[in-house]
Amino acid sequence: MGNNINKRTIRVVELFAGVGGFRLGLERASSNFLTIYANQWEPGRTKQWAFECYVSHFGESENHTNEDIAIVKNEIPQHDLLVGGFPCQDYSVAHGNNAKGIQGKKGVLWWEIIDIIKNQEPSLILLENVDRLIRSPHLQRGRDFGIMLKTLFDAGYDCEWRVINAADYGHPQRRKRIFIFAYKRNLRVKMFGRFGFKKLLLGKGFFSDIFPIREVNKNKNIENLDINSSNFSDLVDLSENFTSNFYNSGVMIKGVVYSTEVIPKKEKETTLREILETGEVDERFFIKESLEKIEYLKSSKRIERINPIGEPYIYSEGQMFFPDLLDRPARTMLTSEASINRSTHVIEDVETSRFRFLTPIEAERLNGFDDNWTNTGMPERFRYFTMGNALVVPLITTMGKKIEKLWGRII
Ligand SMILES: C[S@@+](CC[C@H](N)C(=O)[O-])C[C@H]1O[C@@H](n2cnc3c(N)ncnc32)[C@H](O)[C@@H]1O
Repeated sequence: MGNNINKRTIRVVELFAGVGGFRLGLERASSNFLTIYANQWEPGRTKQWAFECYVSHFGESENHTNEDIAIVKNEIPQHDLLVGGFPCQDYSVAHGNNAKGIQGKKGVLWWEIIDIIKNQEPSLILLENVDRLIRSPHLQRGRDFGIMLKTLFDAGYDCEWRVINAADYGHPQRRKRIFIFAYKRNLRVKMFGRFGFKKLLLGKGFFSDIFPIREVNKNKNIENLDINSSNFSDLVDLSENFTSNFYNSGVMIKGVVYSTEVIPKKEKETTLREILETGEVDERFFIKESLEKIEYLKSSKRIERINPIGEPYIYSEGQMFFPDLLDRPARTMLTSEASINRSTHVIEDVETSRFRFLTPIEAERLNGFDDNWTNTGMPERFRYFTMGNALVVPLITTMGKKIEKLWGRII
């Protein structure tokens, strides 16, 4: 491996690697990205299908570990760029019994990520999560994201974030995810010059340069939110008392946060029809169940239910398109795509006009993976499951190209 390393090499560690979306996206961007360590472990499963898929593409290596990140975090080598799409959980913090006094909620992966960041101090960090992260938890809006920003600040980082709907930038799936790009505080001026918050948000920053913005919603805006400060005595105080609106784009410089709702400058759409397999599709993908059942699942409903404290409430859900529209980008693919539920895509087959599900290859194309990326021995339903977990790879390629340019300014 040593021979491959030169000054321009960006040593990458990939956490929560799944089937390798980050790695594939970065490798498509440049051969200067060198993944030196990857970790993936599906809790509670004996068969580790995603990890096996990862290994089958990137080789057997002692630098790919298949254990809980909490167990192996201390063996992670020094690196330049940390990447990972981690599960969204409740980050709340409590007074612990130990001398340090502050303890994050047990089993929450954010604390593992922060430990790795503090231990290895990567120059750059690129994380992905579901977009509700900026609002959660429901009853204390923004608390979890506030804790993330505060802990990143405390570890010595500035950051930018942006919620990106892949379909807005020409990809065939309406998949909305938050991306967070953090960097050591002393690198900001080298990478971005002396631009302030607004310039970074609106055209000169990491995201705004590569995912252009059409306009800003001036009514949805926060300025000068001081995460760093005296306002909160410690993380427990922040965890108990912090609440804020965060919008789909934001910048934190030295612990001060600006966030605003931006409206993307959309690129030409890629439709679901454009990624469908051509020719004859295997009979097993055609619907055998009654169409009424599927139509019912997708219909709008108001159902009376009883909540845990015995009170009745009305559960309602809206109408979904049946079949899915072929002339729009697809809806978000979930991990449950292999089962029949409201969110499962059902399309009218172009050749036969019969109703069918998406094929695993079509699921891979929605995320921009190579055809048959997950055809590595896993049962078919896991091919959909891993795609429901994965990210839209070409977005990472776009980010990778930008990271490579920024790297050129700091080496
Ligand atoms: C949102 S997915 C990321 C998928 C990945 N970006 C990809 O392209 O396939 C999160 C991954 O974290 C893994 N995971 C969950 N808990 C973990 C833990 N404690 N340690 C290591 N990996 C974990 C899951 O199995 C899942 O594959």
